[in-house]
Amino acid sequence: MKINRRDFTSQLGALALARRFWTQPAFADVSSPLQRLAADKGLIFGSCLALKYFAQSPFYQQLFLEQCDVATPEIHMKWSALSSQPGVYNFETADSLVTFCLAHRIKVRGHTLVWHDAVPTSVLAALSPATGQAFMTEHIRKVAGHFAGQLYSWDVVNEVLDPGSQRADGLRDTPWLQNCGVDYIETAFRCAAAADPMAMLVWNENYLELSNGFGRPKRSAMLTLLDKMLAGGVPIQGIGIEAHLQAEQAGVLGDESYEAFLAELAGRGMKIFITELDVQDFTLPADPQARDQAVAGLYRKFLTATLRQPAVKGILTWGLADCFSWIAGYRPRQDGLPVRPLPFDAECKPKAAYYAVAESFESAPMRT
Ligand code: XIL
Repeated sequence: MKINRRDFTSQLGALALARRFWTQPAFADVSSPLQRLAADKGLIFGSCLALKYFAQSPFYQQLFLEQCDVATPEIHMKWSALSSQPGVYNFETADSLVTFCLAHRIKVRGHTLVWHDAVPTSVLAALSPATGQAFMTEHIRKVAGHFAGQLYSWDVVNEVLDPGSQRADGLRDTPWLQNCGVDYIETAFRCAAAADPMAMLVWNENYLELSNGFGRPKRSAMLTLLDKMLAGGVPIQGIGIEAHLQAEQAGVLGDESYEAFLAELAGRGMKIFITELDVQDFTLPADPQARDQAVAGLYRKFLTATLRQPAVKGILTWGLADCFSWIAGYRPRQDGLPVRPLPFDAECKPKAAYYAVAESFESAPMRT
């Protein structure tokens, strides 16, 4: 990549500013990085990652390397990040992320091959029942083939269930469903397995953790479809539970029906991962300490229930430090205060949520 002098000077300026404002973080004092506490129990721990964060904070890279042994590219492997025209791909940034992670022995979770979001408009415009299947399978072959042998897992499909679509099978009404037919999920898994036989193939899904009128139908739709796919020999090895928790939903999290659902997945031979954990603090008090305690309480409640299930093999938060959380854009607070959804604060210092995650790992049963 060429960089002109003006860009270079402004980047230097940004770095100088960052150095002035970022105080030395306290995470060096944290004797127990989360990845180590997780590994003690046979678990992996990590976070999503976008490379720009390392340029924006001089401490974030150190924090990331210290805490994580697995990473999910937050943006770089999504269809629209890899391609803007059908068939034309640029893997440069995604390759840099993979190279960086593998050089530091960090596993990479590929994210994601088939999603209703982040599809280039040029591809959407060209989709039809006549072209849909070829678009989807060629994308999977191209992308999964490109990274073959390097990735720990692939989120083959993402967020494919939605009770809001009001279908008996629970599937989300998406361009893929409309243009590839109801079997597109199984086709995607078969195609991914052929393109990268080494990666664990995962179905990543949101809101499964909610024991309410939204989460429960998603769970039963997943189990029904899973049974059909497994009976047909579809190569699926894992389930990703995103777990973007909301503070106001504490009452419908981590109950017996959730644990029973995890047991159903385990009984079907699935490995389970919490893939995008964070806590939206939209409704919590302004006071940072009170807020941090409430956020930590949710981490503790959710992880305690989750980690009782031995088929749960890994936990990933969606970011490590509050300054790099998507929640700032997705669900900002009405009072305009910075959001505090993650285990580390904006200066990369551990918060109550860090200790909640650490204690949950310490009290988790050992995986075999
Ligand atoms: C989010 C990223 O964090 C944002 O930066 C981006 O603008 C939109 O996507 N579920 C997923 C993730 O599976 O890929 C999403 O990531 C968050 C919700």
